[in-house]
Amino acid sequence: MLCFVVLSVPWVGVDSGVESVQLICKNIDCLPKDAKVEWKDKNNRKVHVYENGSDQPEEQDNKYKNRTKMKRNLLEPGDLSLTLKHPTDGDNSTYTCTVYSREGNILLKKQVELKVRVPQVEVDSGVESVQLPFNTTLHLPEDAKVEWKISSYTKVHVYENSSDQPEKQHQAYRDRTKMNEDLLKTGDLSLTLKYPTDGDNYTYTCTVYSREGNILLKKQVELKVRVPQVEVDSGVESVQLPFNTTFHLPEDAKVEWKISSYTKVHVYENGSDQPEEQHQVYKDRTKMNEDLLKTGDLSLTLKYPTDGDNSTYTCTVYSRERNILLKKQVELKFTVCQVEVEEGAESVQLPFKTTQNLPEDVKVEWWEVSSYHKLHVYENGSDQPEEQHQDYRDRTKMNEDLLKTGDLSLTLKHPTERNSGEYRCGVYRKNIWIRGKTVQLKVKGRVQIQDQTGDIRNRSSSIDPTPLMADQSV
Ligand SMILES: *[C@@H]1O[C@H](CO)[C@@H](O)[C@H](O)[C@H]1NC(C)=O
Ligand SMILES: *[C@@H]1O[C@H](CO)[C@@H](O)[C@H](O)[C@H]1NC(C)=O
Ligand SMILES: *[C@@H]1O[C@H](CO)[C@@H](O)[C@H](O)[C@H]1NC(C)=O
Ligand SMILES: *[C@@H]1O[C@H](CO)[C@@H](O)[C@H](O)[C@H]1NC(C)=O
Ligand SMILES: *[C@@H]1O[C@H](CO)[C@@H](O)[C@H](O)[C@H]1NC(C)=O
Ligand SMILES: *[C@@H]1O[C@H](CO)[C@@H](O)[C@H](O)[C@H]1NC(C)=O
Ligand SMILES: *[C@@H]1O[C@H](CO)[C@@H](O)[C@H](O)[C@H]1NC(C)=O
Ligand SMILES: *[C@@H]1O[C@H](CO)[C@@H](O)[C@H](O)[C@H]1NC(C)=O
Ligand SMILES: *[C@@H]1O[C@H](CO)[C@@H](O)[C@H](O)[C@H]1NC(C)=O
Ligand SMILES: *[C@@H]1O[C@H](CO)[C@@H](O)[C@H](O)[C@H]1NC(C)=O
Ligand SMILES: *[C@@H]1O[C@H](CO)[C@@H](O)[C@H](O)[C@H]1NC(C)=O
Repeated sequence: MLCFVVLSVPWVGVDSGVESVQLICKNIDCLPKDAKVEWKDKNNRKVHVYENGSDQPEEQDNKYKNRTKMKRNLLEPGDLSLTLKHPTDGDNSTYTCTVYSREGNILLKKQVELKVRVPQVEVDSGVESVQLPFNTTLHLPEDAKVEWKISSYTKVHVYENSSDQPEKQHQAYRDRTKMNEDLLKTGDLSLTLKYPTDGDNYTYTCTVYSREGNILLKKQVELKVRVPQVEVDSGVESVQLPFNTTFHLPEDAKVEWKISSYTKVHVYENGSDQPEEQHQVYKDRTKMNEDLLKTGDLSLTLKYPTDGDNSTYTCTVYSRERNILLKKQVELKFTVCQVEVEEGAESVQLPFKTTQNLPEDVKVEWWEVSSYHKLHVYENGSDQPEEQHQDYRDRTKMNEDLLKTGDLSLTLKHPTERNSGEYRCGVYRKNIWIRGKTVQLKVKGRVQIQDQTGDIRNRSSSIDPTPLMADQSV
């Protein structure tokens, strides 16, 4: 008995969080009683097998165990549709339903594609909290267990035996999550996650289990936390990392801007800045507004930023009890400082301006990044020509009073094409890096041409005339 007319849909889309989805495959004719039906996914895993008049669960791939159901009576106009319970986007696949005769001939073959949509929640870093929504209309048993997690071993929130189980959650989420009361009654299983950062960018899966441990529901939500980017040319006087909040801040709140847990950029505590807590790289270079707790303007001004400041900055606001109230990230990105000059120019300047009145005991070094060859070293109040690489002997100059003026620019005489490359200046105090800047130098070569009068002279290879000195946009 052959059944050629088949009703099926090429694909089915469903939202993550539904109880089940049906992969439809119907034929309007009947099939032999002893036919075998096999559902497989696109990786050839067996999803469901029906043979000799009954389901064959032991043939199923583990991934699909306890999750499938098929109509049985093949003698009636056959409905071979497969019900797949609690689908997630890991179930995105093309499913093939194949019917074999007892002799192993294929009687019918049909494909259905399943697409499980996972809602995305996008939020800006700096908000107080974000909600991962999950409302279900399914009646949940009173003793159900609810788990939000980002992987099988990283639990974000656990609700069991009618109460939250904070000791079961991963410590990164401690004190940061909240679920509604009466969640099993209302079916509102949404999770509130406080002060999200881009470290929280994940797909969160909420699973509801019966008392026996069977999965009743599964829902995924993808969280994306946007981190604002501030782009800046190295050379500007200052840059602002913006953070305005409408959250009411207590008078005794502490505000910390940092780039890692141990590198503090600016600390405000007990009503005033705490410069002794900041890393020395940032000394005299940061500023926050007055009355910041009242106005909610927690923006940070960073003076003389250079590419060494390329980083993601995190502002954290703590209550007096050291609880986190807010957290905001800002990414600071630099466009690399580029200097162009023509070969033959008398000199070129690699610009670097920083804070005035640098301490007397700093050491300033310019070097070529690729070779580590030193162009110029300034230490103990004077140039140290013996530390210089021979290629640069008598070819470099730094300003007088450079520590007082903060102008650490380097003048390189007679640049040649071979000097094209990346240069870096580092400022050290007691061998600790406190400032730095990278400059990309391009020295354009010259070509020899013969003009109409027959004179041989050197002309730049470029059409546009370039100034001898590079633009000092500092
Ligand atoms: C179905 O029945 C046939 C013939 O009786 C047998 O060879 C086959 O192993 C059975 N298959 C299953 C899965 O029980
Ligand atoms: C399927 O359900 C049975 C009975 O409830 C259980 O013992 C088994 O572990 C489950 N299998 C999977 C893969 O979940
Ligand atoms: C599953 O399919 C949906 C709908 O096409 C898509 O949005 C999602 O990204 C897919 N997920 C995976 C893991 O492929
Ligand atoms: C879930 O349901 C509750 C109560 O019915 C409602 O207040 C809430 O807005 C719903 N949440 C979502 C994300 O739909
Ligand atoms: C919940 O209750 C069950 C049965 O009383 C018990 O076995 C289980 O350990 C409890 N779970 C937690 C997290 O308290
Ligand atoms: C988090 O997601 C946002 C929004 O898509 C993206 O801009 C950011 O780069 C992501 N962060 C990480 C660490 O993946
Ligand atoms: C923050 O708010 C203040 C006053 O409300 C405003 O002057 C300032 O421009 C805002 N800053 C940013 C970065 O939005
Ligand atoms: C701020 O005040 C608290 C309580 O008076 C004190 O313990 C703490 O050391 C102070 N912090 C700073 C940086 O002065
Ligand atoms: C700063 O970071 C951006 C992006 O991460 C990168 O493209 C750029 O080259 C970096 N700048 C420097 C000077 O390292
Ligand atoms: C600079 O002074 C320190 C301390 O007096 C000394 O150890 C160091 O060798 C000096 N460096 C140079 C290049 O003279
Ligand atoms: C052209 O440039 C080369 C190398 O810079 C130099 O040796 C030569 O004297 C120059 N010729 C003239 C005519 O200026």
